Amino acid sequence: MPLVTTREMLQAALKGHFAVGAFNANNMEMVQAIVEAATEERAPVILQVSQGAIRYAGLPFAAGLVKIAAENTDIPVALHLDHGTDFDQNVLCLRAGFTSLMFDGSSLPLEENIVISKRVCDIAHICGIPVETELGKVLKRGATPEEVKDAMAKPEDAKRFIEETGADSLAVAVGSIHALLSKTALLDIERLEEIHQIIPEIPLVLHGSSGVIEDSVVEALDHGVAKVNVATYLSQVFTFTLFEQLKQHPTVEDPRKHLVPARDAAKERVREKIRLFRSNGTVTSSGSFKSPPTQHRVADIGEPE
Ligand code: G3H
Ligand code: ZN
Repeated sequence: MPLVTTREMLQAALKGHFAVGAFNANNMEMVQAIVEAATEERAPVILQVSQGAIRYAGLPFAAGLVKIAAENTDIPVALHLDHGTDFDQNVLCLRAGFTSLMFDGSSLPLEENIVISKRVCDIAHICGIPVETELGKVLKRGATPEEVKDAMAKPEDAKRFIEETGADSLAVAVGSIHALLSKTALLDIERLEEIHQIIPEIPLVLHGSSGVIEDSVVEALDHGVAKVNVATYLSQVFTFTLFEQLKQHPTVEDPRKHLVPARDAAKERVREKIRLFRSNGTVTSSGSFKSPPTQHRVADIGEPE
């Protein structure tokens, strides 16, 4: 089916207490791995294009690959700009057919972050495209625990940030760190819940999930996290598998022979994450979302008299 926006899938995830996996796709094999796994798992999926992917493949290729993959499956697929750097880049992505945008103003003072986030939201909303913004800053590998704590999202800013920007989803810094090579970070669930209570209708986004302890990721699904970004965990297995292949078959000159096992390995990791995020089985055979199980009211199940 054609690309869809992230609006409906993130609202379904928020209500159903699952998260949509947002996987960084850098080449054709990664795009195929992500979409094949999501299709087999009947999960909505977001393929996101990072700044590195734009530099590597160029915007037309990065967007084109995802569009073709979406056309050839029957699950909802969204094409998202990851960590958009400025207003102009977001406009270029709108023009290139992205169905979800992000402005990352996390390095800016709050006031400036609000002003540019609002500009991006205003223009994107004219075209019906939702926008993710960032509150606090998710730091990179190498940051100290103190730096991570200092950069966390402040719950008291959340309401104003959403009201003044009009953002559709919010990336919140709550303890994760980008590009960790093993799962060691723990999320500040109390802070996450505080933010969720303040803006309950806004899907929250977890960045840097590769390095978060799995139980902590799962806990976050009950506290407003409806989109989870995964990059390093996929890159690791892709590169490692490729390296092993080349080492074992140094005389095989056909690159496809080496790339197929790398693609298969990445696909299995996508499947693993989709199941962890509980988004598997949430899409019907016709491509729509299954409604979350009805909450039984006390009266429905018989209240003691
Ligand atoms: O925006 C992308 C992500 O936050 C990915 O983080 O590489 O640590 O999984 P990760
Ligand atoms: Zn990120």
